[in-house]
Amino acid sequence: MSKSISGFSKLSKSKKIDWIVDTYFSHKEEAKSVIKQYWNTNDKLQQLHDEFIENTITNYYLPLGVAPNFLINNELYAIPMAIEESSVVAAASKAAKFWLHRGGFKAEVISTKKIGQVHFMYHGSFDTLKTYFKHIKPQLIANAKPITKNMEKRGGGILDIELIDKSSAIANYYQLHATFETLDAMGANFINSCLESFANTFKTEAAYFDGLKDSSIDIVMSILSNYVPECLVRAEVSCKVEELNEDDNVSPQDFANKFIQAVQIAEVEPYRAVTHNKGIMNGIDAVILATGNDFRAVEAGVHAYASKNGSYSSLTHASVDNGIFKFWIEIPLALGTVGGLTGLHPLVKLSLEMLNKPNAKELMKIVAVAGLAQNFAALRSLTTTGIQQGHMKMHLMNILNQFNADEIEKMAIIEHFKTNVVTHSAVVEAIENLRR
Ligand code: MEV
Repeated sequence: MSKSISGFSKLSKSKKIDWIVDTYFSHKEEAKSVIKQYWNTNDKLQQLHDEFIENTITNYYLPLGVAPNFLINNELYAIPMAIEESSVVAAASKAAKFWLHRGGFKAEVISTKKIGQVHFMYHGSFDTLKTYFKHIKPQLIANAKPITKNMEKRGGGILDIELIDKSSAIANYYQLHATFETLDAMGANFINSCLESFANTFKTEAAYFDGLKDSSIDIVMSILSNYVPECLVRAEVSCKVEELNEDDNVSPQDFANKFIQAVQIAEVEPYRAVTHNKGIMNGIDAVILATGNDFRAVEAGVHAYASKNGSYSSLTHASVDNGIFKFWIEIPLALGTVGGLTGLHPLVKLSLEMLNKPNAKELMKIVAVAGLAQNFAALRSLTTTGIQQGHMKMHLMNILNQFNADEIEKMAIIEHFKTNVVTHSAVVEAIENLRR
């Protein structure tokens, strides 16, 4: 049977499944039953999910967990997190509890500017192009009015458009570099529609400008940028050094010193920085997913920001000054609490309600705090007990499930590993002993 097909998207859902199963599976009925096992029994809900994307065959579940006790700017939050990695929610909860008794997290939005660009080619004098841009700029904005008028009513819209000469990087390459305020919307559709309108006006009006023709300007593409270094949020925790530790084996001063060394290593060593920041993204992505935002956009923008000084570096920083330990993060986050999935996916609506229906700025603060908390928990484990103790404790349940342990076996083995080191082979041995 051919493994390629044309017209797949036009087949009914059940015909799509038939084709996939017939073409790619040897145990056809088993494959079909796995696919169908995840269908929702509520037809309307299933249809909603079917229609989010093209060619849906089933749903892909992730657990939605909750990390309570987050005190952020004196408000208490329980943060919803959608993630598969065993230890992430537990680590976030632990960090939240730790800081709950030390004044909590402080967070502030520094800026909310978003960016989009029209990339084009132009063969001719830059002076003529500059004069044309100056002449046409008001019309670029005026022609986009049907798109911007509602956003403007709410206080947002186009902030500015600049002409940028990029011809030293690529011959004849120029940009319209536009900035936007999109308020509580992530704004991708708004920005892209504005940019396409700018591009259209910019090209067609050139025909009526002295020294230019519409063919003088060759539009390559119009698209928002997911790099948003001016859509920034900062979150911070601080306390007296002596309030830092709960562990009798490590003095608070030693803990602070090692913790700061760990951050400094991530600041100068890219191999460590990537893993350090990955831990931060464990927290960030989980909240981004739970709240229906675009984690790919956030990931791309955050990692670009981590390299803004020319070398990939830590997103968090730490210091001790006058006996005060301070730990903070500054990251770009373009988020939305209206539009997109936010009004559609029932679990996204539930997550936003759990967070007290935040606006985009409030969500930026919550997400930054989740990242900072996750990094605090990781560094605290790494510089004290090591990461595996906590990780393997959380991973224990996955190993038990791999071996189809029943409830009684699970209870016995969890009890056993309260006083023994969890490793994969130790768990296998314990299961075998129990079953013998
Ligand atoms: C694992 O998902 C994340 C950590 O590796 C982060 C870190 O090393 O800082 C624990």
